[in-house]
Amino acid sequence: MNLNGFKYFFLSGKGGVGKTTSSILMALYFSQRGEKTLLVSLDPAHSLGIALKAKLGELPKKVEEKLFALEVNPEKEMEKYLKKVEKEARQIVSPAFLGEVEEELKLAHSSPGALELATADAIYRIAVEGRGFDKIVFDTAPSGYTVRLVASPNSIVKWWKGLISVREEALKYEFLSNLKEKRKLKEIFREDPILKVLTKRLKEYETLKELFTGKETAFGVVFNEGLLPREIGVRTVRELEEAGAPVKFLVFNRVKNGIESLKAKNKIVIKVPEFKEEPIGIEKLKELLKLTRWEVK
Ligand SMILES: Nc1ncnc2c1ncn2[C@@H]1O[C@H](COP(=O)(O)OP(=O)(O)O)[C@@H](O)[C@H]1O
Ligand SMILES: [Mg+2]
Repeated sequence: MNLNGFKYFFLSGKGGVGKTTSSILMALYFSQRGEKTLLVSLDPAHSLGIALKAKLGELPKKVEEKLFALEVNPEKEMEKYLKKVEKEARQIVSPAFLGEVEEELKLAHSSPGALELATADAIYRIAVEGRGFDKIVFDTAPSGYTVRLVASPNSIVKWWKGLISVREEALKYEFLSNLKEKRKLKEIFREDPILKVLTKRLKEYETLKELFTGKETAFGVVFNEGLLPREIGVRTVRELEEAGAPVKFLVFNRVKNGIESLKAKNKIVIKVPEFKEEPIGIEKLKELLKLTRWEVK
C-alpha cells in the first residue's frame, strides 16, 4: 500500500500533536513530486496560515510550486449553509410557513452538528471545485470534531431519505384521488419541484458519504510519543473506523529516538522527527520534510 492511489487526505488527532505541521509536510511531499496539491485547513483556529507564514483566505493561494492553500471559516460556512437551506425552503414551502422556517433556521444555528454539517458542505464544494488538483490534503480540527464530521452525512442521508418518502407518499395520495390525472406517477415524481430539491441534496450528501468512505480517501491519525497521547491516538483510529472512515496512515510526530513500534498492520507509517526549532515557515518545513521517513508498505 502506498499514498499514490489516494486523492483526498484527512489528518486527525488530538490538539497540538502536529496535525497542521504534518498536513503541510504531506502536501509538500506531493507537490515536490510534481503533483498539483491543495492544502485545506478546516480548523477554526486558523493555524495553517500561521505555520506557513502566509495570509490565507477562502480561495486557493499559491504558496509553493504546485502547492496551493486555503482556509475554511466554519462560522462563515454555517451562514452560507443556512442561507442555502433557506433559499431551498423558499422554493418548496408555501409562504404561510416561511416565518416558521426562519425560526427553525435560527435554532439550527446553535443546534448540535450544525457546524460539522456546514463544514461537510464546504468539503463537498472543495472536492467538486478541486477537480483540477491531483491531491487535496485536509488539516482538520481536533479528533472529536472530525469523527462527528465524518458521521454527519450518514445521519443526514437517512433523514433526507425519510423526507423524500414522505413527499412521494403525499404525491401518490394526490395522484390516486385525482382521476383526471393523465401523467404516470413516475413522471409526477420526476417533475415535482420539492422532490427535485430533496433529491439533489440527497445526491450531494451521498457523494459526501462516498468521499469520506471511498477508495480515493485516506484518513490519517497523528500520534505523539508517550502513553497518554498514544492511547488517545489509538482511540481516534477506532472512532474514525467505526464512523466508516478508513484510516490508512499514521503519523508519528516529534519522534526522538525511534518510537516504540505500534501495531500498524496495513497502515502506512510516517515518522517526523523532533525539529531543532519550531517548524514555522515554508523553508523550515522543507528542511523537516527532508528528515521525515515514509514507511510505505
Ligand atoms: N516535529 C516537530 N518538531 C518540533 N516542533 C513541532 C513539530 N511538530 C509540531 N511542532 C510544533 O508544535 C506545535 C503544535 O503543532 P501543530 O502542527 O500546530 O499541531 P496541531 O495542528 O495538531 O494542533 C506548533 O508550535 C508546531 O510548530
Ligand atoms: Mg492545527
